[in-house]
Amino acid sequence: MEEEEENISSEIEKIKGVGPAIANKLRESGFSTIESIAVATAAELAASVEIGESTARKIIKAAQSLLKIQFMTAKELLDKRRVIYKITTGSSNLDNILGGGIETRGITEFFGEYATGKTQICHQLSVTVQLPQDKGGLNAGAVYIDTEGTFRPERIEQMALSLNLDPEKTLSNIIYGRAYSTDHQLFLVKNLDEVITSSNIKLVIIDSIVSHFRSEFPGRESLVKRQQKLNKHLHDLLRLSDIYDCAVVVTNQVIARPDVFYGNPLIPAGGNIVAHTVTTRVFLTKRKENLRAAKIVDSPILPSSETLFKITEEGVRDAE
Ligand SMILES: Nc1ncnc2c1ncn2[C@@H]1O[C@H](COP(=O)(O)OP(=O)(O)OP(=O)(O)O)[C@@H](O)[C@H]1O
Ligand SMILES: [Mg+2]
Repeated sequence: MEEEEENISSEIEKIKGVGPAIANKLRESGFSTIESIAVATAAELAASVEIGESTARKIIKAAQSLLKIQFMTAKELLDKRRVIYKITTGSSNLDNILGGGIETRGITEFFGEYATGKTQICHQLSVTVQLPQDKGGLNAGAVYIDTEGTFRPERIEQMALSLNLDPEKTLSNIIYGRAYSTDHQLFLVKNLDEVITSSNIKLVIIDSIVSHFRSEFPGRESLVKRQQKLNKHLHDLLRLSDIYDCAVVVTNQVIARPDVFYGNPLIPAGGNIVAHTVTTRVFLTKRKENLRAAKIVDSPILPSSETLFKITEEGVRDAE
């Protein structure tokens, strides 16, 4: 274990121009892997490590050449997209409308009113991602960033048992972080690179994405600042999903649009920034008892279809 940690921590020293002092500063600022440095901007790196932009550019170039990040043809991009993996939600009907499950290399958002099952789905996915691939998982762990304090390990145990997984092992494959503020939430995500690579993480959950932003930046006058910060946060998440081939799942609250008189007045919070960054949006509504409806909205590739699922003691399942 010790040896492994040492290997990881010395990884960025492989980059030409990164000596121990710069390496330490980089790690302190969350640039703990070659990948994270290769996709940083020179300004970002220069500001956090207190080096000149031209030095920063050289370091980024050196990191990129280590990783061979370069332009690719559309054909290569398509081949890369073909290896997108899917994680089962526990309900095959819900998987179907999602095109086979929650996909890696993108952000999936579940939004809806209270008790519609957002947190339950997050719990379920952090268990199913651990299943072998032939059972709908990725044989990998999850990171769970909890902004509302609603994560329940006991619920994970229940869900693990119903899938014949060892509850203790299942819990130890979920890395939990409680975010107490927007700064804390951003900080946790900034520091995920090393966790993702060292713990075989294929799913990052943020439950919920904008609640702290809404309470810390209320009102019109703080809107611009809030959206800038939220934009940065979402792009950090998108970057993680892209460079580490992992799925990102976020939950979101709904707000009522005052100007909608016909149809559905409920829209996800977070405005255009969230709308433009997430890959797939799923609207959840409550039906009677434990039944819930899920509907795909505004997807560039999925049809706008709807299905029912239920929340049971075992977890998320098909509605009978
Ligand atoms: N152990 C359980 N067995 C069966 N159903 C459960 C269990 N735990 C939770 N539920 C169901 O899940 C619902 C709560 O869903 P969840 O917490 O996912 O809502 P949410 O969409 O996250 O709401 P909020 O906006 O308040 O965070 C409960 O109303 C209940 O129906
Ligand atoms: Mg919740």
